[in-house]
Amino acid sequence: MHDFHYHDGTLHCEGVNLADLAIQHGTPLYVYSANTIQDHYRRLSSALNDLDHHIAFAVKANSNLSILKLLNDEGADFDIVSGGELFRVIKAGGTAEKCTFAGVGKTREEIEYSLNEGIYCFNVESEAELRFINQISSERNEIAPVAIRVNPNVDAKTHKYISTGKSENKFGIDFEFIEGLYETAAKELNNLELRGLQMHIGSQLSEVKPFVEAVQRVAPLAKKLKQKHDIKFFSIGGGIGIVYEDALASGNESWWKERGTNGTPLTIEEYASRLIPILKPLELKIMLEPGRLIVGNAGALLSKILYKKNGTAKTFAIADAGMGDLIRPALYQGHHEIVPIQNTSSQSETIDIVGPICESGDFFAQDQELPKLEEGEMIAILSSGAYGFVMASNYNSRTLPAEVLVSDKNHKLIRKRQTYEDLINGENL
Ligand code: LLP
Repeated sequence: MHDFHYHDGTLHCEGVNLADLAIQHGTPLYVYSANTIQDHYRRLSSALNDLDHHIAFAVKANSNLSILKLLNDEGADFDIVSGGELFRVIKAGGTAEKCTFAGVGKTREEIEYSLNEGIYCFNVESEAELRFINQISSERNEIAPVAIRVNPNVDAKTHKYISTGKSENKFGIDFEFIEGLYETAAKELNNLELRGLQMHIGSQLSEVKPFVEAVQRVAPLAKKLKQKHDIKFFSIGGGIGIVYEDALASGNESWWKERGTNGTPLTIEEYASRLIPILKPLELKIMLEPGRLIVGNAGALLSKILYKKNGTAKTFAIADAGMGDLIRPALYQGHHEIVPIQNTSSQSETIDIVGPICESGDFFAQDQELPKLEEGEMIAILSSGAYGFVMASNYNSRTLPAEVLVSDKNHKLIRKRQTYEDLINGENL
């Protein structure tokens, strides 16, 4: 569910009119609903009430300081993948003790920075990294908290670029080697504390089966590691998928009631009810690392149609937002529902919505039947709250868009639009 809906023919985010907002702040503009973010967080947390659980928001999905502060105020922990993300969490009012640090390529600087700040745990992705963290903590005469990421070799059935739990993926360590590695660490690597076990099989999973398969496979290992090495937590990663295809309608509870009964889309409740029985007997702290689920449907990218062009093969609407602002369609063939901000047209047309960037991959819709759009009209590209702004780039020397956070009838500019001066900041002639 989410808080984007039409009111008197105009798209609103909570109580804020998005036509007014787009005029006030200009386009392209990212808009987020605070209420939706809080609601997703709270619903996930309450579905897991039966477990000793911690929700570590995957900062990579949306790292704006105000979003992190909102989640920090909710009591979230954070799943980070760089020193920069740790810096952001701290700037937003969080602490390193709330952070688990994942990723296959942590540098010495990042490891030392995390130890200085008192990181809760490093989620280690190779034996070499494990030894390197031990070496650094031994130089410092400290004990570093670590968990090892297990690759359970389960097919997440998602796009190949965001599938992480098969042995051919670069992530984690093969299931078969994990017990031996904990043994080695316990015997030889004296500057480590073996604090947990972690896994993450992929992102945008639309069914519960791969999660169940992976947790069933890894839970006995977590149990053994608890007995032998006294680990404290088992993190089952993130990956719960969201609705992209029917995004606007999925704002309503009734839509979920109708659709949610046959297992697709995956609901928070189904996820929790299938996993709790496997996880509860472990009597471990269970951690989750959701990103997209929390913020995905809570954001939209607003854009203006600059021009229309009729060709022999196609009709194009050229928007002022492009793949530099939202790269998901270009990179993963990701579908984002597009709706006009003013819902006035009674006609429809088959159209390509493209951006201004000099690449043929710069599109948001291809051959889609959409309400007829006029030049100057504003559109909302929905479900853009996760992996939207964070993946934006200055390609073609275009400035990064502004971001606005809506709460009820109020809104706040949480990131200024970049200026041309920002574009060359740090460069020398
Ligand atoms: N934990 C780990 C270790 C991860 O690698 C990820 C995502 C997450 C948690 C959060 O997954 P989520 O709950 O958001 O699915 N840019 C891509 C998605 C990349 C996901 C990378 N890892 C996209 O736009 O679809």
